[in-house]
Parts: sequence; C-alpha cells; structure tokens
Amino acid sequence: MGAGRGEGTFAASVQTPAARSLRVRRTVRSRIHYREVRDLPRAAVVQLYRANGWSSARKPVKLPRALRHSHTLISAWDGDKLVGLGNTLSDGHLVVYYSHLLVLPEYQGRGIGRRIVRMLKANYRGFHQHVLLADAKSVAFWERCGFKRAGKTQPMWIYAGHDH
Ligand SMILES: CC(C)(COP(=O)(O)OP(=O)(O)OC[C@H]1O[C@@H](n2cnc3c(N)ncnc32)[C@H](O)[C@@H]1OP(=O)(O)O)[C@@H](O)C(=O)NCCC(=O)NCCS
Repeated sequence: MGAGRGEGTFAASVQTPAARSLRVRRTVRSRIHYREVRDLPRAAVVQLYRANGWSSARKPVKLPRALRHSHTLISAWDGDKLVGLGNTLSDGHLVVYYSHLLVLPEYQGRGIGRRIVRMLKANYRGFHQHVLLADAKSVAFWERCGFKRAGKTQPMWIYAGHDH
C-alpha cells in the first residue's frame, strides 16, 4: 500500500516533454488578455510588424494612425507586452474587411490568432460579406476560422509593398 502511494507520487511528478509543453502552452494561453483600445504603443506595434516581416513596419508614423482608424481593433497582451493584433474596416452594415492580423512569432500556435478573429467576427454577425486577403501560408488558419475560398473571384490590388 505504501509502495502504491509512492508510485502514484512519482508518476505525478514526472512529466513527458509533450505534457510539459502542453502545460506551458496552457499557462501562456490563460495569461493572455485582450483589449479593444485605440492608442497602441508605436514601438511595440512596429516591432510586431517587423517581427513578421510586414512592410508596413517601414511606415511607423502612418501605421499606428491607420490602426487607430480601424472599425474594430483588438490587441492581445502578455502583461504589458503587445503580442498580437487584428483589425477590420467596415461600412457598419453589410461588408467587413479583415485588414491585418498578426501574432509575435514566439506566441504563434497558442490560440491567440483564432481568439482575436472570434472577437472581431462577433461584431459583424449577420453581415452579408466578410472578406480578407489570406497570405498563402495562412489559408489553413483562416479555414479553421470559418472562411473559405471566394468562389470564382480573384483578389486585385494596387500595393506599395513587396512582401506578398
Ligand atoms: C496566421 C496567424 C495570425 C495565426 O495566429 P496563431 O495565434 O498562430 O494561430 P492559432 O494558434 O490561433 O491557430 C488556430 C488554428 O489554426 C491553425 N494554424 C495556425 N496557423 C496555421 C498555419 N500557418 N497553417 C496551418 N494551420 C495553422 C492552428 O494549428 C490551429 O489549429 P487547431 O484548430 O487544430 O487548433 C499567425 O500565425 C501569424 O501572425 N502569422 C504571420 C502573419 C500572417 O500571416 N497573418 C495572416 C495574414 S492574412
């Protein structure tokens, strides 16, 4: 009986790397909080974009201004560290465009992107059209968020960047 109790204690204290990594992910997930604020710290925003190789990082004055004028802007925080954001542009009735969504590389794969999208979508229930331009690498992510390829349409743009 004593041996049995000892074995139980041993089993509880030894964890496989997979179990440890799951625990770390859950801890990080539970401490992330989400805000709907407009005035994001410029340096942190630029760092978030730069870390993902996005060309808007080279427009440090216009970028925070543009985000401030979003229809909805959700940011994700680990304490006072900005770790992700997503925004929309909309006519407020029929059409919503999901403009930017990005998470710091070291925080990706922990449910932050999906949570931001869920919060954004919640503001546009019943809208006729939810649209976005999916980066090739993120198509599977958007499908998991409920989006699908847009029929026979083709995305078209006039774009000043070189990162897509
Ligand atoms: C795309 C991005 C926003 C996703 O955010 P994230 O926090 O890493 O994603 P999540 O952890 O919320 O993932 C949700 C689901 O999508 C899956 N997923 C996430 N990124 C994926 C990818 N690139 N390819 C395939 N599946 C992916 C996850 O495995 C998870 O699947 P599950 O339902 O089995 O759990 C993030 O990876 C990112 O910032 N990428 C760089 C910028 C970018 O490409 N933004 C999108 C531009 S359109």
